[in-house]
Amino acid sequence: MAALNGRDLLSLADLSSTELQELLQLATQLKSKQLKLHSNKVLGLLFSKASTRTRVSFTVAMYQLGGQVIDLNPNVTQVSRGEPVQDTARVLDRYLDVLAIRTFAQQELETFANYAKIPVINALTDAEHPCQVLADLMTIQECFGTLQGLTLTYVGDGNNVANSLMLGCALAGMNVRIATPQGYEPDNKIVEQARAIANNQTEVLLTNDPEIAAKGAAVLYTDVWASMGQESEADDRFPIFQDYQISEQLLSLADREAIVLHCLPAHRGEEITEAVIEGSQSRVWDQAENRMHAQKALLASILGAE
Ligand code: CP
Ligand code: NVA
Repeated sequence: MAALNGRDLLSLADLSSTELQELLQLATQLKSKQLKLHSNKVLGLLFSKASTRTRVSFTVAMYQLGGQVIDLNPNVTQVSRGEPVQDTARVLDRYLDVLAIRTFAQQELETFANYAKIPVINALTDAEHPCQVLADLMTIQECFGTLQGLTLTYVGDGNNVANSLMLGCALAGMNVRIATPQGYEPDNKIVEQARAIANNQTEVLLTNDPEIAAKGAAVLYTDVWASMGQESEADDRFPIFQDYQISEQLLSLADREAIVLHCLPAHRGEEITEAVIEGSQSRVWDQAENRMHAQKALLASILGAE
């Protein structure tokens, strides 16, 4: 089993290529095999943003591993009344075995991890969504039998999901192309990090042209145009993102066997058309299911299983 024994997962770059491969292998095994944690462990979910998939898939994964879950909604804890992160982290550390956090600033997650000795998992920040990308890579591997050498094209906003995809693809030996409107490119620090991991063996390409990016790709991927926390920007963003939609026309430029992924929730008629998300090349439901298997593998690897 992959041995992330007691480690944090704040960014996908916290994993080596080998650790990523081992996690994906374990996740695939866990689709048909039961595994129990060494002892009864408790996972805390501290989510400051909405979540369907991440919340439910972490909860079910932990239950199936024989552990327990506490949903620490900030509104019913002292977090919403301004208790400092440093204090919350040191207290939760004394009760829980592992903590998954969904919040805005990556810096807040890092502060939690600095003050809590227990492992801390990034369940989405404005900067990254590593658990999502574990499931994405697992899904791609299931479809193609391999990851190495494939090209993934992401079309849309260059934020959390795009950032983690760049790191994940580089770690997995895949080429990654990110097509965004001007001014919505991914974080330059993460682009550099992904390029350092890729080490000139694979491509990390940024472009403002979705058609160039889609040509011959094995995977087309998109995400919402206005993320959580950006609701007030939605009206301004829509005209800017109009050409960054996965449509049948864009899909026709990709490889004939290409698959379409979306982290969900989806907005039909915006970043993806109804015909594409419901079409024969869409793998979004398998992708959503794999959140649970990938996170089960992550929890087992961090907490230790039989
Ligand atoms: N993809 C994803 O993280 O979904 P939720 O926001 O529903 O957790
Ligand atoms: N980029 C999206 C991902 C949702 C899973 C957001 O941050 O809202």
